Amino acid sequence: MIVPPNRANIARAADLLRAGDVVAFPTETVYGLGADAINAEAVARIFEIKGRPRFDPLIVHAADFDQVRALVTEIPAAAARLAERFWPGPLTIVLPKTDRIPDIVTAGLSTVAVRVPDHPVALDLLRATERPIAAPSANPFGYVSPTCAEHVAEQIGAHVSLILDGGPCRIGIESTIIAFMGGEPALLRPGGVPMEVIEDVVGPTRIVTGGARPLAPGRLPSHYAPRTPLLLVRSAADVVPAHRSGGALLTRAPERDVAGFAHVEVLAADGDLRRAAANLFAALRRLDAGAYTRIFAIEVPERGLGRAIMDRLRRAAGPSDPPSTPGQ
Ligand code: TXA
Ligand code: MG
Repeated sequence: MIVPPNRANIARAADLLRAGDVVAFPTETVYGLGADAINAEAVARIFEIKGRPRFDPLIVHAADFDQVRALVTEIPAAAARLAERFWPGPLTIVLPKTDRIPDIVTAGLSTVAVRVPDHPVALDLLRATERPIAAPSANPFGYVSPTCAEHVAEQIGAHVSLILDGGPCRIGIESTIIAFMGGEPALLRPGGVPMEVIEDVVGPTRIVTGGARPLAPGRLPSHYAPRTPLLLVRSAADVVPAHRSGGALLTRAPERDVAGFAHVEVLAADGDLRRAAANLFAALRRLDAGAYTRIFAIEVPERGLGRAIMDRLRRAAGPSDPPSTPGQ
């Protein structure tokens, strides 16, 4: 049931979480499906509801940096600088865990991914619960993440007793994930905090997002995927007329050459990357519901949030489609 995030409903949600139930709640990135991170059985429910493989660890959400300190054994100086600069915010940091975090949360890894979300409802819920909350995005495994309460209700509403409605997510794309490998920062997932801004704080950062066995185990090549086949193209001109009919074009900014497409979905009228990121997942869902033969997504430059947008589009395209195969 979707409910407004007033005090009574936050208290109810906190009670449910403390009793071992799961609750969906908004964050500034995407909606999360939360459970008490200290309760292994409650966390197991998340995996069941999502159909998520047990090898894919969860992000643990905390109310503040102090709560994080109690969950980890060590915080490298560079990690503390990132936390101080970006929390609350769309940044997840992977740190060595204490025994308080059950193995199911981390899929048996010795590290835990933690973040302090920047959303008043998420923070109120964390404070009311007085526990860290493990929460993946509130979508079935492999599908597009939800950026409003209705998305959650449509897909997993039947399994969740409470969905706190915080309106549409401000960032609309998941958090950036940073790990420290041999003390050096490494980017595991591009997200809401652009890589350039991370590097301003910690210096050169390795990118380890690719590969057949991704270091963030959930980062499979086919992910965030709509059911309609999605192809990446450099521009609308790459799509020949025969492929346009029945197909939908997904573009960051308005395009001139759009004759023949069954539908054109513009992410931001002014091309603004932040707006485009915020609209991306809702647009993919709309297009998926539209029964088009294919979605042709125009590439965006990999700067700032563009890197996270391209990451999601590549994964939506799946492993069989090389990123820049023009208009097939
Ligand atoms: O913005 C977000 O991060 C959202 C909101 C709800 O906070 N959450 C989210 O969770 O995107 P999820 O489960 O969809 O993605 C979590 C990612 C997965 O790719 C997982 O493999 C990675 O984090 N991860 C979790 N723990 C890890 C660890 N100890 N080491 C490396 N990667 C980890
Ligand atoms: Mg997810």
